[in-house]
Amino acid sequence: MLNSIPMPDAQRLRELFEGAGYCEAHLRKHLGAAELPSPRLRNQPRLLDRTSARTQLNALLRWFWLAMPQPAEEVGDLFPDEFLNLLFESGLLVRRDGALAPAAMMLPIEGFLVASDHPTAIQRKEGGMVLWPNPTSKFLARFAVRRPSRATLDLGTGSGILSLGAAAFSDTVVATDLNERAVSCARFNARLNGIANIEVLAGDCFAPVTGRLFDLILSNPPFFITPQSDFLFCDNPMELDGLCRRLVKEAPAYLNEGGYMEMLCEWAQIKGQAWEERLGEWLTGTGCDAWVMKGLTQDPEEYAQQRIRDITYDASNDATAYQGYMDYYRRRGVEAIQDGLVVMRRRQGDNFIRMEEVPPTPTGNLSELILSTFAAHDLLRENGSDEALLGIRPRVASTVRLEQICRPGEGGWLPESLVLRLSSGFRFHMDVQPLAANFLASCDGTRTAGEAIQVFAAKADASPETVKRECLGMLRKLIERGFMTEA
Ligand SMILES: C[S@@+](CC[C@H](N)C(=O)[O-])C[C@H]1O[C@@H](n2cnc3c(N)ncnc32)[C@H](O)[C@@H]1O
Repeated sequence: MLNSIPMPDAQRLRELFEGAGYCEAHLRKHLGAAELPSPRLRNQPRLLDRTSARTQLNALLRWFWLAMPQPAEEVGDLFPDEFLNLLFESGLLVRRDGALAPAAMMLPIEGFLVASDHPTAIQRKEGGMVLWPNPTSKFLARFAVRRPSRATLDLGTGSGILSLGAAAFSDTVVATDLNERAVSCARFNARLNGIANIEVLAGDCFAPVTGRLFDLILSNPPFFITPQSDFLFCDNPMELDGLCRRLVKEAPAYLNEGGYMEMLCEWAQIKGQAWEERLGEWLTGTGCDAWVMKGLTQDPEEYAQQRIRDITYDASNDATAYQGYMDYYRRRGVEAIQDGLVVMRRRQGDNFIRMEEVPPTPTGNLSELILSTFAAHDLLRENGSDEALLGIRPRVASTVRLEQICRPGEGGWLPESLVLRLSSGFRFHMDVQPLAANFLASCDGTRTAGEAIQVFAAKADASPETVKRECLGMLRKLIERGFMTEA
């Protein structure tokens, strides 16, 4: 457990780390690749070699990156007393077996310095370990709706990384965790980074915030679908994906009208069901609009193998463990394990549920992507009739690009097809006919859809009614997918 030291001391501690060169850019340069030591990568010798010179930064790296105890007589005199005292007072450094041993990993990330447990704690099967900021935390942080929030909840805060990011646009952030060690760690990290508007509470799911309402809820819960619940930080403790379902069902009661809940999750796809079916049941009747962005699909066999590999390097028990996983999935008819991001927005009225598989590696401003996607659904709902839609002034979104595909032909390249493509967010694309592309170019926000369609119909070889119907159908589809907006 890390100790809650006064804010000025915590900030001084961070300055001392930074003064020694312990910051993101510097580390990458210093270590070659800023990867953590891993028996699988077999990078320990390289990291040891890189940190062999007797300097303050190398001693810090050996403690807080490589998780190595070091004899006091070898490294003690490298540090001023103030630094060592703060490391001891905070609990980051302890005396063990005659050496100075690290009690945490320190990760400089996105302008923060974050304490957590070291990945080696997994091998020691420490169920209450505090997860370090990892690709899932970063992924969710990138999608966080970054608009002024009166109150943000970070449920299952771990190291507190999502709260640190959310503090910048929230009046207050409440970070909760069932794990007391995570609670002390998140509290410590808020102080270390000089952030005063994070309140950290211990407790199960929404229990610590009963009666409170939020503009934003972020959660990266323990979502692994496993037969056991050995690890609080990653194993879904309920039947299959039950904890994620529970959060979806309970979250709306803690959201202000218009507030968002964003949760990463995995869910089981049961034999005979489409992947959407299970999530459809979770999301129906919640009083929220919902957008599910499905990522990876894994079959139970590859999933089991990966889970086992992630938690142990000792292969002696692999056969039993694998059998345990497969029995669990087979008995429940699990055909696949899906992962994705669920975004809900509380809104009175008829709610929409949009579920789709999305391309990997989205780019650009993903907060804006969430807000503009929900706004697109609002625009379509508010202009549900043909008459209303004809009155809006549509324009092609600035992120759209038109690509022409050509094939070699006599005398040069021959145009074959046209593709509309989004250049940021999820890179959806759509084929268009040349005439339709010209029509879209005329939608520049200066004229109504009705006016643009009228001009187009005069040139088209079809009845005005048919042109109107097809153009409106195309507009609806393009607005929903973010290719067009209202001026
Ligand atoms: C996958 S970790 C995420 C940590 C951090 N939010 C991040 O993104 O790096 C899940 C966290 O949820 C916490 N947790 C597990 N079960 C919980 C529960 N029932 N209520 C609240 N927190 C829980 C775990 O202790 C762990 O810190």
